[in-house]
Amino acid sequence: MHLDNDEIHIWSMSLICTAEQAQAYAKLLSTDETARAERFRFPEHRRHFTIARSVLRQILSMYTEIAPEKINFSYGEHGKPALASLTKHLYFNLAHSDDLVVYAIAHQPIGIDIEKIKASYEQGLPERFFSPQECESLKCFTDTKRVSAFYRIWAKKEAIIKASGKGLATSLASFTVSPDNIEEKICFAQETWHLQPLSIDPAFAAALASQHPAKNLLYYNFKDYTIKL
Ligand SMILES: CC(C)(COP(=O)(O)OP(=O)(O)OC[C@H]1O[C@@H](n2cnc3c(N)ncnc32)[C@H](O)[C@@H]1OP(=O)(O)O)[C@@H](O)C(=O)NCCC(=O)NCCS
Repeated sequence: MHLDNDEIHIWSMSLICTAEQAQAYAKLLSTDETARAERFRFPEHRRHFTIARSVLRQILSMYTEIAPEKINFSYGEHGKPALASLTKHLYFNLAHSDDLVVYAIAHQPIGIDIEKIKASYEQGLPERFFSPQECESLKCFTDTKRVSAFYRIWAKKEAIIKASGKGLATSLASFTVSPDNIEEKICFAQETWHLQPLSIDPAFAAALASQHPAKNLLYYNFKDYTIKL
């Protein structure tokens, strides 16, 4: 799979599959990934992790030409996975919500997040995690529009912290994003990130943070590329 320096590829896939398919996906996992899958308390979480990791291996295999099961990962201080060998300067990040998994692949550091837009959100969540300006901006929306705006802010903030790899080590309230469907530049933990909303599925809010804006943002559905397991 060819990826230009100024391109970012966005992959998505439904996590719904049969038990037989889930077993086939599991065959690509490493011993430590299988052990991690077994530690999940709920079978659904175990299945989602297994499929998402197996598909990650298959997607990265298309870019690196390394067999999916031979790909090695390293982990940042706060758990961000990366390719152990960055010889091709290939960066990736992934997120799952409900039955959907999304991946971003680029030649630059990136973060992606996706959130299913539920009917409502828990009272007090914005005050707990958002900046005062973000809490204030939510008040400009009414009812269902406010709920969508809440999930847009959430996805954007998560994309930023995932791009930086710092996880929750830095306060989520320390930076402010727009509740609107617009591109913006965000300064977080002394780094500047290009933040953009993604159109993957109308039932989800999704966002991508990258060091530089992509000239080409290309969307792929993994089901069209499925490798026979
Ligand atoms: C781990 C975290 C990075 C994202 O967790 P999440 O929202 O539960 O999960 P997502 O689906 O978005 O992403 C999970 C993937 O991100 C990747 N990831 C893990 N740690 C990461 C890190 N420090 N930075 C970037 N990516 C990371 C992994 O690939 C992981 O998938 P895997 O477990 O299958 O390997 C972390 O930011 C977190 O716990 N966030 C929750 C914050 C919150 O409560 N926000 C409230 C509203 S703003």
